[in-house]
Amino acid sequence: MQTDMRTAYIQSIRSRLSEHRFVHSMGVEKAALQLAEHYGVDKDKASCAALLHDYAKQLPKQQLMALAIQYGIEVDPVYRECPGLLHGPVAAELVKEDFGIRDPEILRAIACHTVGAPCMSPLEKIIYLADMIEENRDFSGINIIRKAAFTSLDEGMLKALEQTVGYTMQQRLKVHPDSILAYNSLLNAEKENENENI
Ligand SMILES: [Fe+2]
Ligand SMILES: [Fe+2]
Repeated sequence: MQTDMRTAYIQSIRSRLSEHRFVHSMGVEKAALQLAEHYGVDKDKASCAALLHDYAKQLPKQQLMALAIQYGIEVDPVYRECPGLLHGPVAAELVKEDFGIRDPEILRAIACHTVGAPCMSPLEKIIYLADMIEENRDFSGINIIRKAAFTSLDEGMLKALEQTVGYTMQQRLKVHPDSILAYNSLLNAEKENENENI
């Protein structure tokens, strides 16, 4: 990525995010670059999507909802109950406008970093995982996900979704259907791989 674009992204998130979230975003970039290097994925795209993934994180819930409606994002019942989850899809629209980013892979990776999606691309999985395992994160079970993320992206995603969906359920919060679809599609891929190896 051109240095001036990276600098512009960093300046922008520094002004939009709290220090804590800014440091998190820089950590996500570092983890995303490590994963991109490990799996041979475009590092410029990984850096861009990682830096901007939480671009809409600190917008008030009402504003997230209003922007989602304005951009034609489908606000399903779970989004309606937990508008904070919209910060992914809304960020993808905002960075399109604010920076002219048009790359669908980058935009989708930003959009689906909150709840996941079925049939995620390697870049999408990298951003989802980097968001969870970056060096400033600390929660019970993180080392299992960190290790799995470098074993295979799919193994990392399965472990990550088990953690987030399980935690969401323990909190008695609704699970977004896309998280379930993401999990099921990973199991399908796992089964296909097993069949190919027979
Ligand atoms: Fe986020
Ligand atoms: Fe994040």
